[in-house]
Amino acid sequence: MMCRKNSALVAIALGVAACASCAVVPDPNQAAVVSPPSREQFIMGGVNDFMERRCGALDCHGQIGRPLRIYGALGLRKTDPSMPGAERPTTATTDDEKIDNYLSAIDLEPEAIGYANATKGEYDDFLLLKKPLGLENEGVRHKGGPVLRVTGDPGFECLRSWIRGAVRTKDCQDATF
Ligand code: HEM
Repeated sequence: MMCRKNSALVAIALGVAACASCAVVPDPNQAAVVSPPSREQFIMGGVNDFMERRCGALDCHGQIGRPLRIYGALGLRKTDPSMPGAERPTTATTDDEKIDNYLSAIDLEPEAIGYANATKGEYDDFLLLKKPLGLENEGVRHKGGPVLRVTGDPGFECLRSWIRGAVRTKDCQDATF
């Protein structure tokens, strides 16, 4: 009886010791300061216009349910929820809609895109870059297909340069069609 009790106590003690040893305290010095890529570059640098045209069609990212939801004058419009029957706006894409597009792009995987920005694009394994490549172009499965390529594609360069912190506006313009 006494022997069984001792072995149970020993087992519990070993269990506690094992748990204590795997509770690794994160090293605060290892933390990387991450911040999202620039909103100004997204809106003024041509990234928004590129995404409206190349990703924002109504059967693609111009849908309320898409995590990457893109508003635009030719696609989904931001309407006042308190006025459900209101007519579809015919104005150009509003600043509000462009800001929402920016937030949608950076809030998909905030840590990953922040880390990519902090490492100037050295880190690039996240959905905003990998999905539009599709499996065909070294990306991941994408129902929208291989919309972009890694090399020689101004559209991919537009997205990647923005994430790296220095948007290539000419590439964004060349890829907006
Ligand atoms: C350069 C333009 C594009 C980018 C950056 C892009 C990016 C993405 C990302 C990050 C996701 C995962 C988040 C989500 O589900 O919303 C996604 C999914 C999706 N995309 Fe796109 N996309 C692009 C173009 C398109 C186009 C043109 C279509 C339609 C022909 C499309 C259709 C879809 C669909 C249906 C999904 C959900 C299913 C899935 O995960 O594959 N996308 N895309």
